[in-house]
Amino acid sequence: MSVIIAGTGSYLPEHVITNADFESFLDTSDEWIVGRTGMKERRYSDVEPTWKLGEHASRKALEAAGIDPMDLDMIICTTVTNDYAFPSCACMVQGALGAKNAFALDCVAACAGSVYGFDMARRYLQFDDVKTVLLVACESLSQVANFEDRNSCILFSDGAGAAVLRKGDGYYGASIHSDPDGAQHLYYKHPRRGTPFYPADAVFEGEPFIADPLGALVMNGKEVYKFATAAMPEAVEEACVRAGVAPDKLDMVLPHQANQRILETAAKRLGLPMEKICLTIERYGNNSSASVMICLDECVREGKIKTGDAICLVGFGAGLTYGAVTLEYKDS
Ligand code: UT7
Repeated sequence: MSVIIAGTGSYLPEHVITNADFESFLDTSDEWIVGRTGMKERRYSDVEPTWKLGEHASRKALEAAGIDPMDLDMIICTTVTNDYAFPSCACMVQGALGAKNAFALDCVAACAGSVYGFDMARRYLQFDDVKTVLLVACESLSQVANFEDRNSCILFSDGAGAAVLRKGDGYYGASIHSDPDGAQHLYYKHPRRGTPFYPADAVFEGEPFIADPLGALVMNGKEVYKFATAAMPEAVEEACVRAGVAPDKLDMVLPHQANQRILETAAKRLGLPMEKICLTIERYGNNSSASVMICLDECVREGKIKTGDAICLVGFGAGLTYGAVTLEYKDS
């Protein structure tokens, strides 16, 4: 059983942040950022909350699929930057859409989130009580970035992507993994408030990762880079084997946009030219789980993928999580 991608949508906030904007307060340069990451611009949502980005992208996906929010049976939202600890971001998007017949839940797997969510949707779609799923990835990384760390803040961006998914036929293969051994290389820790009976600043002795004093994300770029260059091709290869497609026969790869050099290294190992790797990194930077869904929407709308194409969605990030889904693209 595979999945039909009945409609896609994306939303990028209007506020453009250029490399020159970082030069104004950090010891960095456009030349360094472009050379080391491929990024020129990213988008910040400013006052718009994460769920609102998700709502915008979802409305476009529903319109493209030609369905009413009331037709949705399930909403899966992927985010690491939910505005609320609860309710879930999926419930917030559901409320905004008025999708009253759906049940809604979040899938938290960092930058691999939308790939995990895609495979979850397929599993729910195997049973007849779920016929139509909205998968929406929305992120506001600007809200957790450390603006005193030139190594990381220049990477992150805000945005959302969505797709309406239904049960379909055609080949399908997934490779979904998590490896906690490298989790210390990328994390964001919520502050503890303490209680009237215990201080907030007390540290649990077994706590593996220490919160950043600024309340921002913590990243060891070199280690994440090493992990990503191995994990991305490994996941693509495994998903391709399970789908029965040779990696070098893929028509388009829709990858998480972490660093252009990671994508170039992976493309080489997979025997794919860069034309087959969707790139939004120059314009949007790293949108965490939304990157893959934004790529999907752009490729569908620009006709870069068409019915019958072999496509591969692939993500990797905090956890450490990584995964890929290879399938025959069909929209009906
Ligand atoms: O979604 C997953 C999230 N994270 C990632 O995917 C991150 C993966 N890692 C990366 O993309 C890269 O490791 C970075 C882009 C973060 C860093 O690139 P790098 O080529 O690994 O640089 P580096 O850490 O080896 O640093 C080289 C130099 C250092 O200076 P020294 O020690 O050689 O004097 C850094 O301090 O570059 C310096 N540097 C910068 N210089 C100018 C680090 N960040 C900057 C900067 N501007 N923004």
